Amino acid sequence: MKPLIIAIDGPAGAGKSTVAKLAAQKLNYTYIDTGAMYRAVAWQALHEGVEPNNREIAGLARKLDVKLSYVDGKTKVAVAGQDITEAIRTPEVSRLVAKVAQVPELRDVMLKLQREMASQGGVVMDGRDIGTHVLPNADIKIFLTASIAERAKRRWRELTDKGYTIVLAELENEIACRDKEDCEREVAPLIAAADAIQVDTTHLSIDDTVEKILNLCKERQ
Ligand code: C5P
Repeated sequence: MKPLIIAIDGPAGAGKSTVAKLAAQKLNYTYIDTGAMYRAVAWQALHEGVEPNNREIAGLARKLDVKLSYVDGKTKVAVAGQDITEAIRTPEVSRLVAKVAQVPELRDVMLKLQREMASQGGVVMDGRDIGTHVLPNADIKIFLTASIAERAKRRWRELTDKGYTIVLAELENEIACRDKEDCEREVAPLIAAADAIQVDTTHLSIDDTVEKILNLCKERQ
């Protein structure tokens, strides 16, 4: 069977990474979490005390050394050899990442890297601009959405499970701000590709969403 290229885009908390990871596991494909790559740069900016302006982030982009690896079905993220898998999920990084992701030079470096990672096919890649910019020829494009209240609830559960104390209303506000920044940026904004299949996961279970994607794969193969 032909190895497919699957692009999954959508706003924060729509369930992209959970669903993409499971679909990749079932298909025996590689899962590529592009949000983790942008988060790694935001973490690096915080770590090095670099301002999230164009010039400074372009500087980081030029010496970018982000690596994704897969251990026991989990994505590991490293910058310059340092494992930052957990560190990129903190609220501080979440607050900064959409600013960092606006820098055109960084997006350009990421685009090349992500295309290279998908070049062999057999990948599920999730992000914001995969179907529109990174892999416009993907075999299947999914645009996952969910109501903002549901997305905030999912993130709240995730962060609370990790031991963070966080107010749901604040999280909802933060997610709305990040969506706005992602949708309104000039380069590669968050938007559904014209040929993407829109899936609203507000009332859909993870298993049902994965099933939908697997059925689409069967149709395309
Ligand atoms: O997917 P996740 O929520 O981890 O992504 C974090 C941030 O990275 C997004 O809010 C967005 O600003 C940026 N991003 C992007 N393009 C992608 C993936 C993520 O701009 N393809």
